[in-house]
Amino acid sequence: MSTSPYPHLQQRDATPVTISDLARMKADGEKIACLTAYDASFAALEDRAGVDVVLVGDSLGMVVQGASTTVPVTVDDMVYHSRITAAGLGRAFLMTDLPFLSYATKHDALETSRRLMGEGAAQMVKFEGGEIQVDTIEHLSMRGVPVCAHIGLQPQLVHKMGGFKVQGRDKDAAETMIRDARMLEEAGADMILLECVPTSLGAEITANAKVPVIGIGAGPETDGQILVIYDILGLSPGRKPRFVQNFMTGADSLDTAVANYVAAVKDRSYPAPNHAFK
Ligand code: KIV
Repeated sequence: MSTSPYPHLQQRDATPVTISDLARMKADGEKIACLTAYDASFAALEDRAGVDVVLVGDSLGMVVQGASTTVPVTVDDMVYHSRITAAGLGRAFLMTDLPFLSYATKHDALETSRRLMGEGAAQMVKFEGGEIQVDTIEHLSMRGVPVCAHIGLQPQLVHKMGGFKVQGRDKDAAETMIRDARMLEEAGADMILLECVPTSLGAEITANAKVPVIGIGAGPETDGQILVIYDILGLSPGRKPRFVQNFMTGADSLDTAVANYVAAVKDRSYPAPNHAFK
């Protein structure tokens, strides 16, 4: 019997996606379709459409809470949204973000992960940072916490970086990112998320990595793609980032739009060349 407070939303007969399935998909060259969700109804919609990985992103600070950055998001916010998102899932793998400065030390990271996995039902945690996170990833990984390392554009550093900008365009920055990806994987990262980098860099990091690399604005060669659900449904106002495609265009329902996104990732028609950075 389901223990979910939303049993009507959950797929009952689906086989859940595991971390081993994600590794196999990379090995088989099957693209991994990922999307953000922040509540049970959107999670269930994505689950029905065949999304493989649902991310409770700290982007919720911007798209749900209306802040201009992800910085104000708290651990309690992430625990709450992770728990109510998990309630809508029957098949997809659930990954949840560690919010700004909740993983400043490896001890903080372990405690935040304990809450996100224990209270929030996350199956993997994601946090930002390159070489600086090596010790933390080792600490978490050795204690059984699956980790996704988020490199490239790191939105939590917006005030330090002076805005949201494409990363790794010059040779030194690209080499540092390639080295960081290798070190994070060696430290125990189970997945890498690569945000806003040139296509050639996305391709090189993916080819070198043994673990799946998921891209957002990182070109078509990464092992999977992720976007913010509200962006693909055309709900986000203002100028949209280059890599965003509105899948509501030509779709007669939300279910069709999300299913079209999954199909486009799987058949490699998304991202198209006009979504990529040079
Ligand atoms: O917070 C988030 O939603 C993210 C992605 C969009 C990659 O980190």
